[in-house]
Amino acid sequence: MNEPAPSLPAPAAPTPPPLITFEVVTLFPEMLDGFLAGSLLGRAVAAGLIAVERTNPRDFAPGRHRSVDDTPYGGGPGMILRVEPFAAALDEIVARRGPARKILLSPQGALLDQRKVRSLATMQRIALVCGRYEGFDERIGSVLCDEELSIGDYVLAGGELAAAVVIEAVARLLPGVLGCGQSVVDESFSHPRLEHPQWTRPLAFRGHAVPAILLSGNHQEIERWRREQALRRTAARRPDLLERAPPTAEERAWLPAGDADPMASPRESVPDRTDLTPTVSAASNDAPPEHP
Ligand code: ADE
Repeated sequence: MNEPAPSLPAPAAPTPPPLITFEVVTLFPEMLDGFLAGSLLGRAVAAGLIAVERTNPRDFAPGRHRSVDDTPYGGGPGMILRVEPFAAALDEIVARRGPARKILLSPQGALLDQRKVRSLATMQRIALVCGRYEGFDERIGSVLCDEELSIGDYVLAGGELAAAVVIEAVARLLPGVLGCGQSVVDESFSHPRLEHPQWTRPLAFRGHAVPAILLSGNHQEIERWRREQALRRTAARRPDLLERAPPTAEERAWLPAGDADPMASPRESVPDRTDLTPTVSAASNDAPPEHP
């Protein structure tokens, strides 16, 4: 009689590929270590949701000194990055792992915003090319890359921090990275308003109490109040955002007189905290918030 075949363990399901692979092209790959070990991204990498590869153009530079920079044509101070080591690094990435959207981080690039972040989150492989030193050969951007991005109107010493900003902003939109879908939906810039202010315990802090409405238990009123605060805050701090999505007739009534058309006369940014937080004379009892 035949022995029953010993049952074999089911084969392990193949690990799905990462949702996005970031390919950072940098002369200082170790700059990303601490950032990537950090909780949110470290966990996403460990879970295989994203991958971050690093490629150093110096490894592709010719000669014993592997020099990656040279003096600028036409003269001028400092050294600028040469195009060939960056070309070789990008070619290697594509040959080894596949095509990528190639982005040069530079203060001359288009400003990164949440809309751009959302569009990057749909890509499979993004190469983030980081400059350093006095600048880079123009062809690193115009010939090798698909686009240039800046993270703000200020100049960093190199693109690595900008690459880190792009990675974090994109990765947190991917399913499973934040672990809480709602926080992605409810954020500033998804709908072009700043977020409403929030409080948790203690109820009173250095004379500043939590607004009473939040303790009322009236969820409809709280929701309306939060929308009003978000609108007022946006009008005070970022009136430019209201250009994209002007206040509705209902919302206009919530704005202080003069703010109803915040685009009509651009104002100095006004601190908008004082009208939010009532001052208390004595420490109130610390009733816990409804949703700690
Ligand atoms: N490299 C240097 N400054 C930068 C900036 N503001 N954005 C992107 N990359 C940069």
